[in-house]
Parts: sequence; structure tokens; C-alpha cells
Amino acid sequence: QAVRKIALLGMGTVGGGVYEIIERQKEEMPFKIGAALEVVKVLVRNKAKYADRIPAEKLTDVWEDVIGDDSIDIVVEVMGGIEPARTYIKAALEKGKHVVTANKDLMAMHGHELLELAGEHHCDLLFEAAVAGGIPIIRPLKQCLAGNNITEIMGIINGTTNFILTKMKEDGMDFGEALQLATDLGYAEADPTADIEGYDAGRKLAIMASIAFHTSVTFDDVFTEGITKITAKDMRYAKEMGCSIKLLGIAKNTETGIEVKVHPTMIPENHPLAAVNDSFNAVFVHGDAVDDAMFYGRGAGALPTGSAVVGDIMDVARNMLFHCNGRIGCSCYKNLPIKQIGD
Ligand code: NAP
Ligand code: HSE
Repeated sequence: QAVRKIALLGMGTVGGGVYEIIERQKEEMPFKIGAALEVVKVLVRNKAKYADRIPAEKLTDVWEDVIGDDSIDIVVEVMGGIEPARTYIKAALEKGKHVVTANKDLMAMHGHELLELAGEHHCDLLFEAAVAGGIPIIRPLKQCLAGNNITEIMGIINGTTNFILTKMKEDGMDFGEALQLATDLGYAEADPTADIEGYDAGRKLAIMASIAFHTSVTFDDVFTEGITKITAKDMRYAKEMGCSIKLLGIAKNTETGIEVKVHPTMIPENHPLAAVNDSFNAVFVHGDAVDDAMFYGRGAGALPTGSAVVGDIMDVARNMLFHCNGRIGCSCYKNLPIKQIGD
């Protein structure tokens, strides 16, 4: 039986979830993908932190141990940040290894470059977990909805801020207390500034807009305003007006250009997005053929995000079985103008 060998770069919240799901699904894999999956290397910075969970022969703090191991088929990047993640992913693709990543910071800034490199080397580069955690949204935009002209995407795409706003509204928690709880639950980024200032949502929006509108949108193009100025008083006023405050990401493909923005918004209580609470995310997509479609689920956390990463790993393994890796790579992008907001 074929065994697909995996290196995990990172063993934090998401890496831990991926490791657990691969273990849980061990017996199922041959039926689902015609092969077994084996994690053979786990790269971290501080090995001592992981010694009780990961066998010593798998654990390394040396990148060369990973890139120098020719038996590794799939590199799974769940460390976060731009560097060294970008260098490691490029090196893996150049060696013909398939890559799965959950890294929205990287895909929102360098996605096109990396997808082109993957295409050149006939490798898969999959990143379902980079947007909205466990919710399938990248594949639907890239494949299932590809026959549409998509004109609008709107959603709650950051679990941490949705969790904070929910706790402030429903339990009267203060901002700091709710942020600490979101961090303890593994929802927040290593530096939660990205969550609370709307940058994380902006990165996810740039990735979705690039795919949906078939053009290049990077994080730098997105207008962002976070939730740090929202007070208990704002919450009370919103409630009195029959509204909820939500951090929305909105992307539109208009006749005069692409509009991409993230900001807190008052939403009437009877709107479906007002009922999206805690760390849940929801994404609305409007296409000229499908009309409205909505995707809903857990947008953060170890197992929901691990679910998306493992789904990608299994897709790579299935493609290996049928020798069709790299089949959904980067094609020609339009060069649509991006509107400047807030100047
Ligand atoms: P995390 O808990 O902070 O874990 C990061 C892991 O990567 C740690 O094991 C860390 O090892 C390792 N690492 C970091 N830099 C490294 C380096 N230079 N060399 C080797 N190992 C390194 O992060 P996370 O929450 O799992 O997030 C990982 C990625 O998934 C990020 O891109 C994040 O944006 C994305 N993501 C997260 C979620 C979520 O719910 N958390 C959801 C979707 C996507 P040490 O402990 O030894 O430093
Ligand atoms: N920090 C992110 C969030 C993790 O809260 O949504 C999932 O991308």
C-alpha cells in the first residue's frame, strides 16, 4: 500500500489539530484516498515544548532535515508569518513537493507568485484553511462557482472579533476580557493586532476577491477598520435600534473597479448575518447564475481549521494516485482597477 509522507511545519493550534485528525482517520485513509498518510517530520523552534506529544525521531528544529528528506511528498505549512514560510514553501515546490498551507498573510501578499511556481513544477499548492477556517470557500469559489460572474462577496471572516463582539453584546464582557478568552481558545493570531484591527479579515478578503473576480487583489488594496473603538455604549445603542454590530468584509466587482473593505457595520437583527455568533464565520456570495449562496461554520480553532488542512492533504494524495497534481493552478488573471477607499 502507498504511504504519502508528510512534513508539518509548525505544531501549534492548527498543527495540533492536523496531527490529531490524521491519527483519527488512519483506518479510513486507504478507502478514501488509496494510500496511508504518515507524518514523518515536525518542524518547530522549541523542541522541548512538544517532547511529550511528538516522538523524538520526528521532531526537528532544523529546516534542512525537512527539505533534505527526499521521501517527503507533502509539506504542510502551519507556522504562520511571511518569512521563513515563503522561503520554505518556495524551496519545497522547487524540489517537486506538494504544499498545503493555512497561511493567509502569505497567500494574501504572495499568492500569485507561489501559485505560478507551483504550476511550473506541476505541484499542488492548496490553501483552503487560509480563509474562514473550517468552512469550504476556496474550492467553491475556484471550482463549483466558476461558471458565474461573481459580483459580490460579503461576510464575517474573523472568528476572534466575532467572538469578542458576541461576548460584549450578550455577556456584557469588556473588550480585553473577551480578547483574552479568544486567545485562550486558540482563535486569535500570535499577534492579535491582526484580528482586532481588521487586517486578518482584510487578508482573507484579498484572497477571496482574487479568486472570485479573477484578478490580483493583495492585502495592500483592502481598506481596513477594526473593532478597537467599539464601546459598551455602541453595543447598547445598536441593541436599542434592533441591530447587531459585526465586522464585515465586503468585496464588489463594479463597472468602475474592484472595491475591497473591512469595517464594523450595524446589521438589523433579522438579517441572517446577525445570527452568526461566537467564533462562527459566514460568507455570502452573489453570482449571476447561482444568485445568492451562503457558507457558514467555524472560522477558527484547532479541529475546524485542521479539517480544512487535512481535506487539502487528502486532495493532494488523491491527485498523486491519479497523477494529476497541479491541475487547478494559476491561469491568466485580468488586471482590473482597484478603487481607493477612504482617501
Ligand atoms: P501557533 O499556535 O502560534 O503555532 C505556530 C507553530 O509554528 C508553533 O508550533 C511554532 O513552534 C511553529 N513555528 C513558528 N515559527 C517557526 C519557525 N520560524 N520555524 C519553525 N517553527 C516555527 O499558530 P496557529 O494558530 O496554529 O496558526 C498557524 C497558521 O494557521 C497561521 O498562518 C495562521 O494564520 C493560520 N490559521 C490559524 C487558525 C487558527 O484558528 N488558529 C485558523 C486558520 C488559519 P514554536 O512553538 O516552537 O515556536
Ligand atoms: N485569527 C483568525 C480568526 C484565525 O480569528 O478568524 C482563523 O483564520
